[in-house]
Amino acid sequence: MKLIALPGVYSPQDDTALLAGALHREVLPPGARVLDVGTGSGALAVAAALRGAEVTAVDISRTAVWTARLNARLARRRIRVLRGDLTAPVSGGTFDLVVSNPPYVPGPFDAPPRRGPARSWEAGRDGRLILDRICREVPRLLRPGGVFLLVHSALSGETPTLAGLRAAGLRAETLERAAVRFGPVLRSRQSWLCREGFVHPRDESEELVVIRAERTR
Ligand SMILES: C[S@@+](CC[C@H](N)C(=O)[O-])C[C@H]1O[C@@H](n2cnc3c(N)ncnc32)[C@H](O)[C@@H]1O
Repeated sequence: MKLIALPGVYSPQDDTALLAGALHREVLPPGARVLDVGTGSGALAVAAALRGAEVTAVDISRTAVWTARLNARLARRRIRVLRGDLTAPVSGGTFDLVVSNPPYVPGPFDAPPRRGPARSWEAGRDGRLILDRICREVPRLLRPGGVFLLVHSALSGETPTLAGLRAAGLRAETLERAAVRFGPVLRSRQSWLCREGFVHPRDESEELVVIRAERTR
């Protein structure tokens, strides 16, 4: 699948590929309604649309919205791409599958940046500024039997993600883990991450986790 990413938009990376694999293996009902939260280039939205799903994608970045629309056109698929904050543009809607690769990198900032490429990864001091909101908001959007697939670094806490989704009534489990080498962002803040106890000085890789959560009733 050929995708373009306009400047400042997150180019698909290991986390995107891991979630795309989980999406590929998920059984979708005919005419499934799929939501991609934080769509970036639209990689996951396009992957779902290529499986015949009716797809809605959301991003807070205008450039990401344009990019995702462009990639939908290049793939000759109709995707509804909306600009807004997480699930706000689709509140009241329901979906068979929600996917998200949100910002999850811990860093020395109390709030996410208001603009710029770092909005794709910065997630506050514990890496959970967006993850905790997603765990609260997404369960409301799932139809009975609906599934949520989420990828993030284990550095930002697999246990609170599973606990948050279970507290919202979902059956949640870790589907997959993969070790990936630190990218430039983690390398650039390795001493801060060491001071805060996230990593050790000699660490060179982090673990990504794919979480699957299902609304059983
Ligand atoms: C890690 S990137 C993932 C992009 C794409 N889904 C992928 O897997 O390649 C995270 C995306 O979330 C978007 N984002 C950040 N904060 C957001 C928010 N509050 N609401 C919606 N999207 C947000 C960013 O603009 C970025 O495109």
